[in-house]
Formats: sequence, C-alpha cells, structure tokens
Amino acid sequence: MNIDAFSDRYKVRLLTEADAGAVFELCKNNTIYYKYCPPFVTVQSVLADMKALPPRKTAKDKYYIGFYEEKKLTAVMDFIDDYPEPKIAFIGFFMTDVSVQNKGLGTEIISCLCDYLTTLSYSAVRLCWVKGNPQAEHFWVKNYFVPVSETKSSAADRVIMAERRLLRT
Ligand SMILES: CC(C)(COP(=O)(O)OP(=O)(O)OC[C@H]1O[C@@H](n2cnc3c(N)ncnc32)[C@H](O)[C@@H]1OP(=O)(O)O)[C@@H](O)C(=O)NCCC(=O)NCCS
Repeated sequence: MNIDAFSDRYKVRLLTEADAGAVFELCKNNTIYYKYCPPFVTVQSVLADMKALPPRKTAKDKYYIGFYEEKKLTAVMDFIDDYPEPKIAFIGFFMTDVSVQNKGLGTEIISCLCDYLTTLSYSAVRLCWVKGNPQAEHFWVKNYFVPVSETKSSAADRVIMAERRLLRT
C-alpha cells in the first residue's frame, strides 16, 4: 500500500509513538465525537489506538497515518488493509483538526483515497459510526457510504456499519 497516494494535497506519513502528543492535540477539540464515543481521548488512549487491531489482523495491515500540511498535522486515519476480507479497506478512525473542518477537506481526503483504492481494484471501503452521531453520519453519507447493518463494536453498543462500493459495473 502506497500511503503517499492517499492524498494529492497533504504529505502522508505513518505516525509513531513520538506523534501521540500531536494526535491528542488534534483529537481533544473534537468534542462531538467523544460525546458519542467515550471515554475522552488521552495520550495513553492514542498510544493504544496506534497498536489496536481488529480480529485476525496483524500489524502489517495497519496504517495509522497523519496528513500534514507543511508541519501541521491536519488529519489522522486508522486504515486497515484487506479487512474484513481481501480487497476491502476498513477505516477504523478518521478525524480532522477542528480549525479546518467544514471546508471540504475531509471529503477531499476520502475521495482521493477511494480513487486510489479503485485503481488497485478494491471493491469497497467499510467503516462504522456511532448511531446518532450527526456529524459522522452526515459526513459519511455525503461521501457515499451506505449503511449496511446496525451492530455492536468495541467503541459503542450501537454502531452503523457502512460501505462505499468502489468497482464500477
Ligand atoms: C467528520 C469529519 C472527519 C469531517 O471532516 P471535514 O473536513 O469537516 O469534512 P467536510 O468539510 O468534507 O464535510 C463536513 C460535513 O459535515 C457537516 N457537519 C459538520 N458538523 C456537523 C454536525 N454537528 N451535524 C451534522 N453535520 C455536520 C458539514 O456541514 C459538512 O457537510 P456539508 O458539506 O453537506 O455541509 C470531522 O468533522 C471530524 O473529524 N469529526 C470528528 C471525528 C469523526 O466524527 N470522524 C468520523 C467517524 S470515524
């Protein structure tokens, strides 16, 4: 997976433990997200998220990445390759800095990522949002993610699993 291709606009790189403080600074202002997905973020929870894996996956399939404009961390994504099955990508987490929100930048990142995955013949991108979170739901539906089922996850008791199909028919 070539993470450089995830964005035309931003420099994309893998985040490490040394970046946990910067990730925390980005996350802590996203109060709507943590209202629906408690507990509130800490540096320790960021460090745990950097290593967290879904069932049956290993670290080689996980890309915990930052999108940088110059030196400013603008967005964070937890990308899991080939989950839950080959040629489906799973976004475990996606968050932008509140200072750049509602300007179309989140949509631009997701569009570019989906275009790239289409060139790799991926069939879909999958993710979950906590049921009732208006910000997350509006964003993902606007970005062509279609609810598939209501389920339970480690994040919350009621989450909507949604999918964006990629292959053109
Ligand atoms: C969701 C998120 C990534 C969107 O990033 P962004 O850069 O603002 O994305 P865009 O500007 O492309 O689109 C934002 C859309 O959400 C809408 N929105 C923002 N806040 C909202 C709210 N409280 N309720 C409903 N819609 C909301 C905006 O109006 C916009 O939609 P529009 O273009 O139809 O007006 C960002 O808000 C975020 O990081 N939220 C916290 C984390 C999160 O919820 N992540 C998704 C779940 S993993």
